[in-house]
Amino acid sequence: MTSETLSNLSHEERRFPPPADLAAAANVKAEAYAAASQDFEGFWATQADRLDWGQKWDRVLNWDNPPFAKWFEGGTINAAVNCVDRHVDAGNGDKVAIHWVGEPEDDTRDITYAQLQDEVNKATNALVSLGVTKGDRVAIYLPMIPECVFTMLACARLGAPHTVIFGGFSADALASRITDCGAKVVVTSDGGYRRGAPSALKPAVDEAVAKVDGLVEHVLVVRRTGQDDIAWNDDVDVWWHELVEQQSTEHEAELHDAEHPLYVMYTSGTTGKPKGILHTTGGYLVGTSYTHWAVFDLKPETDVYWCTADVGWVTGHSYMVYGPLANGATQVMYEGVPDAPHKGRWWEIIEKYGVTIFYTAPTAIRTFMKWGKEIPDKFDLSSVRVLGSVGEPINPEAYVWYRDTIGAGETPVVDTWWQTETGQILISPLPGVTEAKPGSAMTPLPGIDADVVNDEGESVPDGSGGYLVLRKPWPAMLRTIWGDDERYKDTYWSRWPGVYFAGDGAKKDEDGDIWVLGRVDDVMNVSGHRLSTTEIESALVSHPKVAEAAVVGAADEMTGQAVCAFVILRESAGGESGDALVQELRNHVAKEIGAIAKPRQILIVPELPKTRSGKIMRRLLRDVAEKRDIGDVTTLADSSVMNLIQSGMSSGSSDE
Ligand code: WTA
Repeated sequence: MTSETLSNLSHEERRFPPPADLAAAANVKAEAYAAASQDFEGFWATQADRLDWGQKWDRVLNWDNPPFAKWFEGGTINAAVNCVDRHVDAGNGDKVAIHWVGEPEDDTRDITYAQLQDEVNKATNALVSLGVTKGDRVAIYLPMIPECVFTMLACARLGAPHTVIFGGFSADALASRITDCGAKVVVTSDGGYRRGAPSALKPAVDEAVAKVDGLVEHVLVVRRTGQDDIAWNDDVDVWWHELVEQQSTEHEAELHDAEHPLYVMYTSGTTGKPKGILHTTGGYLVGTSYTHWAVFDLKPETDVYWCTADVGWVTGHSYMVYGPLANGATQVMYEGVPDAPHKGRWWEIIEKYGVTIFYTAPTAIRTFMKWGKEIPDKFDLSSVRVLGSVGEPINPEAYVWYRDTIGAGETPVVDTWWQTETGQILISPLPGVTEAKPGSAMTPLPGIDADVVNDEGESVPDGSGGYLVLRKPWPAMLRTIWGDDERYKDTYWSRWPGVYFAGDGAKKDEDGDIWVLGRVDDVMNVSGHRLSTTEIESALVSHPKVAEAAVVGAADEMTGQAVCAFVILRESAGGESGDALVQELRNHVAKEIGAIAKPRQILIVPELPKTRSGKIMRRLLRDVAEKRDIGDVTTLADSSVMNLIQSGMSSGSSDE
C-alpha cells in the first residue's frame, strides 16, 4: 500500500445515502450497532435464535483457550434441516429454492424446497450406501449444477464434512486436497459446459484417484454432458442416476454438535501448501444466515437473489448455499460464463427471473464496463434493489458504473469484505443504514470488532493506514487449519497476541470508514481468486528446465492482479528461450495448479534481484512488471541484475 493510494482516497467525495423506502423497511436499522456492542454475546444469541436448534446451547462463546473458539457450546443443530426441512415444515414446500439455469439455452430447472428435500434425502441415502458415515470426508468436484448443492447438503445432513474443489483445478491440485483431508468418496460429473462446448471433469478425477493410493473408495458420477468416451472403473465408479435415483426420499436427520465440522475449503497462503480452512456447523450457519439477511436486506417472501460466484469458492458456500437456503430465499444458480451464448446473458437472466438482489465481483463488473453499457441497457433490470460486490477492492469508477448501469443510478451497492477464513461478511455497508462511499467497505457489521493497526498493533488514528485486524471472535470464523493447529496459530494469531490478522492492508478515512487496500503478503488476488506466489513458483520450479522462479502479482486492468513470473533456466535447458518455451511453462503451471494460475507473462532472466541475505526482492520485480521506475536498489547483492531484467522486459513475451 503506497502513500499515493492513501492520499487518493481522500479525494473521493461522492456519497450515496440509502433510498428512503428501503431504509424505512430495512431488516437491520442503525440501532443494531449499539445493541451489539453493549451485549456482544446477547446479540449473537439473538441471531442464533433465527435458526432451529435441537439442544439449546449452554454458552454462546467459549474463548477460554484462544485462538480455538467454540460457539454455541453444548447446542445441537443440523445444517441441512435448517436449509431445507424447516422451510417445508413451515408450509413453504412449494416455494422455489433454486431457479437453476444451465449454460445451454432453455436448459433450466426450478427446484422447490419440497423437491430439494427429496433430492437431498436421496443423495444422503446414496452416500450412506457407499459407506459414508458421520465424520468421513467427501470431496466434490462438480460444475454449477444442482447436484452439487444436493451433495453438499447431504454431507451436512450426515455430518460428513465436504471439501468442494473448484472445477478449474488440475488433477494434481485435486489429489493433494483429497489426500490432505482424507476423502474416501469423490462426487463428480462426466463434464460441464464451458462456452457451449462440453469440457470433461472425470479424467482429472481418474488421474487424482490413481495418485492417492487406494484412499478413494468410490467415485459418484453425475451425467451432465453425456460425453461417451469417458473411462470407467467398475470397482470404483458409480453413476448418480443409477444409485441416487433409486433411493428413498425419506431420511431421518441426526442433530450434530454445534462445533461438528461442516466443511473444509482449501485456500492459498504465503507458503506453497494450500490451507484447509475448517468451518464448523452452528456458528457458521448463524454468521452466514444473519449477514445474508442483514447485508442484502433479504425479504424471503418477495426477493429473488442471485450470487454469481462458483460454488467451488467460499462465496458459493456462504452466500449461495448455506446463508440463502438457511434464510429460505429463492435464488438463481447459473452454470455458465457471462458471455455464452451472448454478452447479455446475465442481464437476460435478471430480467427473466426478476432478480432483486445481485451479488458479483469487481472483475466481472470491469469486464462489463469494457463491453459497454449498451448491452445491459437492452434489458429490463428494474427489479434490482440491492447490488453487492466481493472478492477484491472495487475501484470507485467500477462501483459508480455498477450503481448507474445495473442499478439505475439509485440502487445501493454493498461492498462486502471478508475471506475464506472469516466464513461470513465482516465489513460492509448496511443498505438501509449506511451512507456509502464508492470504493469503501465502510464499517464493521454489528457484532464485529475490526480495526486498522500499525506495526506495533496499535489502533491507527482516522486518516491513516495499516493492517486490517479483528479483535474479537465471530461465529463463522475458521476453527483451525485442517490437521494443523500450529499453522493456524502461526498464520493468523501470532503477529499480535489475541488479534486475528490475515494479510490485508487498509485505511481509516477522516470519518473512520474502512478502505481495504488489498494484500500485504505474498498472496495475489486474480479475478477475486486467491493465489499464492510460492505455490506458482513451486509449480514452475517443478518443470525440468527451470532452476529458479519468482512470481509477483502485477496490477491488471481486468483481473485486478495478474500473475507475472521471472524464471531462471537450468544450464541443461541449453540456453533455450523464446515463445515456445514460455508457452510450455505457462501450460505447465496450468497443469500443476489450474488454468486460473497460468502466468499472464513469463520473463526468462539470467538472475533474480536478491538481498545480501539471499531473499528475492519481489518489490523490485513488481515495479518491473508494472513498468514503474525501480526504486532503491542499494540493498541488492548485485545491482546490475535489475538492468538486465529491465532490458529483457521491454522485449519480453506475453500472449494475452
Ligand atoms: C480480498 C473471498 C477488498 C481481500 C470472500 C481478502 C476484498 C481476500 C474484498 C479474501 C472487498 C475480498 N474489498 N478486498 N470487498 N473482499 N477481498 O478468501 O484481500 O477468496 O483477504 O474470500 O479477498 O479472498 P477469499
